[in-house]
Amino acid sequence: MNRAKTGITGFDELIGGGLIEGSTVLLSGCAGSGKTIFGLQFLFNGASNYAEPGVYVTLETRPKDLRLEAMQFGWDFEQLEKNKSLVIIDAASSKAGLPTSEKYALRRGFDIGSLAEEIYRAVDDVKARRLVFDCVSALGMRFDDPSDVRSELFRISALLRELRVTSLLISETVEPTSLSRAGVEQFVTQGLISMNLTETNGILKRDMLIWKMRQTSHSMKKHSFNIGKFGIAVESTKKSVKK
Ligand SMILES: Nc1ncnc2c1ncn2[C@@H]1O[C@H](COP(=O)(O)OP(=O)(O)O)[C@@H](O)[C@H]1O
Ligand SMILES: [Mg+2]
Repeated sequence: MNRAKTGITGFDELIGGGLIEGSTVLLSGCAGSGKTIFGLQFLFNGASNYAEPGVYVTLETRPKDLRLEAMQFGWDFEQLEKNKSLVIIDAASSKAGLPTSEKYALRRGFDIGSLAEEIYRAVDDVKARRLVFDCVSALGMRFDDPSDVRSELFRISALLRELRVTSLLISETVEPTSLSRAGVEQFVTQGLISMNLTETNGILKRDMLIWKMRQTSHSMKKHSFNIGKFGIAVESTKKSVKK
């Protein structure tokens, strides 16, 4: 089984060396839990360390803000975009009804069909091997019926599998306990990771838990992690036991 290493310190060893190539994994968590940073780090490492070009589909954050967010950690997205090893698809501007001058974007309002076409075009242009979809909850808000959300998600996962890109679908949860906003996303993906922020005695702590990873034996523990100068780093188990 070939693995797509995330290159995120301490993470790959929790899931047997990396994500299974071509699989779709749901990354779920509340606002501020680090999902976008995880996605940016996965694509940056792929493009710059593992010769795997990537596509970032953004539905809520505009591309210029994403580039700034990445740059804080020294991840130069603009350079990678110039080198054709990275593409950002701007689906955020059209959702917000704003104009965009991005090369990859939805221009005539938002619909799943045009988004799928743009994903095809981007993946083909840079021969992408990785993709991040941030976030699927932005689709869910358009539907009242969970079965509709499920079918749209199913369509996207099927598309990603057909394109054979290793994908992270990001999902934003409202309550810390629910795994996804619509409560259905986890059924259509091959893996599920939740990222959490919890408060104890006035201090926020970050941890992650791997709930599901098909065809893989994975860690069953909660793992503390930090966001520092170089992005996300998962603490080694030894260190968390000592505490
Ligand atoms: N340079 C940084 N150093 C340390 N932590 C940071 C830095 N930049 C952002 N963060 C933390 O990451 C959080 C945002 O992470 P993000 O991935 O955007 O969350 P999500 O996408 O889950 O809403 C911020 O609220 C902050 O706590
Ligand atoms: Mg985010």
